[in-house]
Amino acid sequence: MSGGPVSLVGREAVLDVDGVAHGGHCVARWDGRVVFVRHTLPGEQVRVRVTEGDESSRFLRADAVELLSTAAGRTQPPCPHAGPGRCGGCDFQHVTPARQRELLGAVVHEQMQRLAGLEVDVTVRAVPPDDLGWRTRVGWTVGPAGVGLRRHRSHAVEPVERCYIAHPAVAVPPHPPAGVERLDAVVSSEGDRSLLADGRRVEGRARLVERVRDREFRVSGAGFWQVHPLAAETLVEAVLELGRPAPGERAVDLYAGVGLFSVFLGEQVGSVGQVVLVEGEAAAVRDARRNVHDLPQVGIVHAPVERALAAGRAGERADLVVLDPPRTGARATVVRRIAALRPGRVVYVACDPAALARDVATFAGLGYRLAELQAFALFPMTSHVECVALLTPAAND
Ligand SMILES: C[S@@+](CC[C@H](N)C(=O)[O-])C[C@H]1O[C@@H](n2cnc3c(N)ncnc32)[C@H](O)[C@@H]1O
Repeated sequence: MSGGPVSLVGREAVLDVDGVAHGGHCVARWDGRVVFVRHTLPGEQVRVRVTEGDESSRFLRADAVELLSTAAGRTQPPCPHAGPGRCGGCDFQHVTPARQRELLGAVVHEQMQRLAGLEVDVTVRAVPPDDLGWRTRVGWTVGPAGVGLRRHRSHAVEPVERCYIAHPAVAVPPHPPAGVERLDAVVSSEGDRSLLADGRRVEGRARLVERVRDREFRVSGAGFWQVHPLAAETLVEAVLELGRPAPGERAVDLYAGVGLFSVFLGEQVGSVGQVVLVEGEAAAVRDARRNVHDLPQVGIVHAPVERALAAGRAGERADLVVLDPPRTGARATVVRRIAALRPGRVVYVACDPAALARDVATFAGLGYRLAELQAFALFPMTSHVECVALLTPAAND
């Protein structure tokens, strides 16, 4: 006889839904146990069906499968593939864009409170388009029934004839090459297109041109570039507004990708200033070299950020440090090394508010306080939100 805990998957209950939580779901309680419920809104009463968890689980996951009362902000999902058990790409198709931004603001607020002990008022700003047709990079999965997108927390593929949040130029590839599992479709701000099959280019350009303000950036098809058409511009504006780079200053741009921020930092600090760009991926560094070629004040370090800082390759001091790490955040060792450069301003661009909050807490222990936090809805219909934080030495207060 197997004595393991009894699975609760498939069980149903009627629950009252509380607040939103990080990850695209809301919180409800069932006999005192937390249940993370998707496809619902705070204040609704719904019938839930458990999708993950057993009698010993600390929390359960569930889908709202029937609405018994609805809350303001609910709308008909534009995409027919959204809903329980369907495509996992979007979390908030059933929510109006304005209410989505309120939910994202509540999530950032909660992460800052819980992980950094800070009370921060967060207003998430809209960036057009704020609903559909924005995603300029889509990773399609090829399943037994055709090309589609993965279901939530599953390897199973939801075949789709169209992704509603995708930019019209990255339509579902109609004829995937035989044996291919993943297709990446990309369109740039200049209309350049590329299609990669399992990481290899099969159509379009190897390098795309993106335009931000008056500058052109070369980006390899598979390399990192923000996915919302106005994201790069929006983030550059936020970084320059919060970072205030001035002529003659020394700036460090960590996790710099193809040099998006370095180019504009370089322009601001001028030929008597200096920017150190640090990036770990070889293809991005190749693109960055081209993108900063007319700015000799920008020096490039091709190395993991941890190693570059430990070896002193970003220098001894900085007036300004900009960092834009992956979802895991910078983590304590890197944060300590940044603080050791004694910058007057740290601008932290973050795609995960939880990682940001943890790193803000580390900065606080090193004498840096959160001076300002901006947040942008750069991934409409999803639970993702981009934050730009300014940290300054507490001694400056
Ligand atoms: C979120 S992207 C930001 C890129 C750039 N700031 C932009 O906005 O286009 C993060 C970048 O960090 C790089 N990266 C990730 N981990 C790294 C590490 N440990 N050291 C150096 N670079 C890293 C990735 O290759 C990627 O280019």
